[in-house]
Amino acid sequence: MTRIAVLVSGGGSNLQALIDAQIRDRLGGGKIVKVISSREGVYALERAQAAEISTVVVPRKGVMQEEFDAALLRELTAAQADLVVLAGFLSVVGPLVLSEYAGRIVNVHPSLLPAFGGSGMYGLRVHAAALERGVKVTGATVHLVNEVVDGGEILLQKAVDVLPGDTPETLQHRVMEQAEWLILPQAVAALTG
Ligand code: GAR
Repeated sequence: MTRIAVLVSGGGSNLQALIDAQIRDRLGGGKIVKVISSREGVYALERAQAAEISTVVVPRKGVMQEEFDAALLRELTAAQADLVVLAGFLSVVGPLVLSEYAGRIVNVHPSLLPAFGGSGMYGLRVHAAALERGVKVTGATVHLVNEVVDGGEILLQKAVDVLPGDTPETLQHRVMEQAEWLILPQAVAALTG
């Protein structure tokens, strides 16, 4: 069994996709053993609790990056996590965690990388940038995490049409529904056998 820690910062719809896949026995040999949030009070924590998954908050706000990184590593070690999944985790993972979990951290990003990635590109901003540029196709990417923001090896991608009249919100929802919620569990299942 591969012990999975899922890192979240917000609504947790990608976490929910992983939970649903686990319930349907579609998460390979993986089991979610811990959900770690960088923010208090987010809905992702409620989703985890509803699924009876243990949760912890490691606050990012008001903390130095090194301190945050060390606290994150403590929780991952305590959970004996083998694989770390960033599912709407909006903080940067620091060098301590990166070196301990090299090749064992995956992230879902809401665009077809390398388009609309990198520092400051997260959540609705990604979709606003795609609309601003006028692309007709966007999508989502699951990739390994290394020291380059959104720069690690690409594992899976899925394209999604941009439609006339789209707003960042409508596009975000379509990209989640048609790409992220499918390819994230799929990539995790492939990694956990
Ligand atoms: C998702 O669209 C995810 O791809 C994105 O934040 C959203 C979180 O939604 N992540 C990034 O932009 C990371 N760079 P969720 O909390 O409902 O899963």
